[in-house]
Amino acid sequence: MFQPAITGSGVFTPDQTVTNAELVQVFNAYAERFNADNAEAIAAGRVEAKQPSSTDFIRSASGIEQRHVMDKTGVLDPEVMHPILRERVNDEPGIMAEIALDACGKALAAAGRAAGEVDLVICAASNHERPYPAIAIEIQTLLGAGGFAFDMNVACSSATFGIQAAADMIRSGSVRCALVVSPEICSGHLEWRDRDCHFIFGDVCTAVVLERSGDAEGPHFRVLSTRCATQFSNNIRNNNGFLRRTRPGHMQDRRDMLFVQEGRKVFKEVLPLVSSHIAGHLADAGLPADRLKRLWLHQANKAMNDFIGRKVMGRVPAPEEQPNILQDYANTSSAGSIIAFSKFSDDFEPGETGLICSFGAGYSVGSVLLERA
Ligand code: COA
Repeated sequence: MFQPAITGSGVFTPDQTVTNAELVQVFNAYAERFNADNAEAIAAGRVEAKQPSSTDFIRSASGIEQRHVMDKTGVLDPEVMHPILRERVNDEPGIMAEIALDACGKALAAAGRAAGEVDLVICAASNHERPYPAIAIEIQTLLGAGGFAFDMNVACSSATFGIQAAADMIRSGSVRCALVVSPEICSGHLEWRDRDCHFIFGDVCTAVVLERSGDAEGPHFRVLSTRCATQFSNNIRNNNGFLRRTRPGHMQDRRDMLFVQEGRKVFKEVLPLVSSHIAGHLADAGLPADRLKRLWLHQANKAMNDFIGRKVMGRVPAPEEQPNILQDYANTSSAGSIIAFSKFSDDFEPGETGLICSFGAGYSVGSVLLERA
């Protein structure tokens, strides 16, 4: 058995941003137009009027201040309200592969590894731009990596579940150097015309390199243990899939073909799941919570993270113990906890420990216990 380690990480951040003020302005323009166009039906009680969104609500309900997106022109056009992303022809890189190359390049540079040394690529993300051939195989080829590659999707827990899969393969010896890459273009599956959730998501891509601790070229984090758990729930759901065309009315603009959630229920049900998951993971690892220098949590909602931090630490954690990035990035699905890890892990001394934890649709929870070597 070999000791797996995270030896490098990288983040691709799209350069376009949408502030809450810009977002609310476009939503309210859309809502006003909708209400004017449907005035008669609204007055007759057949159609519900759209209520305006507000920056104060967004900030206080979520902690989000802005998000990065691949295209803001479409998102901020009240006639469009979704990103406009050029469709790629088959013999050029897909958009997920393109942003993955950037994040993978940064992660490999941090690890001091050449792409040719990689023998596993997992593209772990909550949506993939096509079912096959796997995006991961495209990334493997474009990078010049060897071995094999596959896609996986566990929604917001894709990256941590991918890290567990890669770490287990390194532990057993079936692979030597792995990339887990999470190109999350959440703007594509968000309904920007739904006031309850239009502020939630942003776009990003993260990548981590995993290899044998003994092979590491520089400072790195040993993966002490990982833990994944799932429990079925419809409270975060997206019904878009290949069976769509087999059903009557498939061409209709159906709300359930994009991200839908029961936010309040998610809040209530996921919090106890995550708190007990982390407590169980730490107890089995024989590591008291006060030995953790940092929690790199999934980034969906600030109040949720504050609750989990308090529950795990048994007190209010200091900001540096539980860093948030969602004010700048919003919810980036599985990439959120990895952005936090990537941006806030350089100050670790040998022997210090931290925990990455993701949670979301499924429900799914994944935690990765790390020790600085
Ligand atoms: N602007 C202004 N008001 C809004 C609004 C907006 N954009 N969106 C909703 N509201 C209103 C609602 O209509 C509701 O009004 P009411 O009380 O008169 O009915 C009120 O604000 C509260 O709405 P609610 O949806 O209950 O808000 P919330 O406090 O639960 O916060 C979320 C919403 C989505 C931020 C929160 O539920 C959440 O983060 N949940 C977990 C999300 C999560 O982790 N999802 C995983 C995704 S992968």
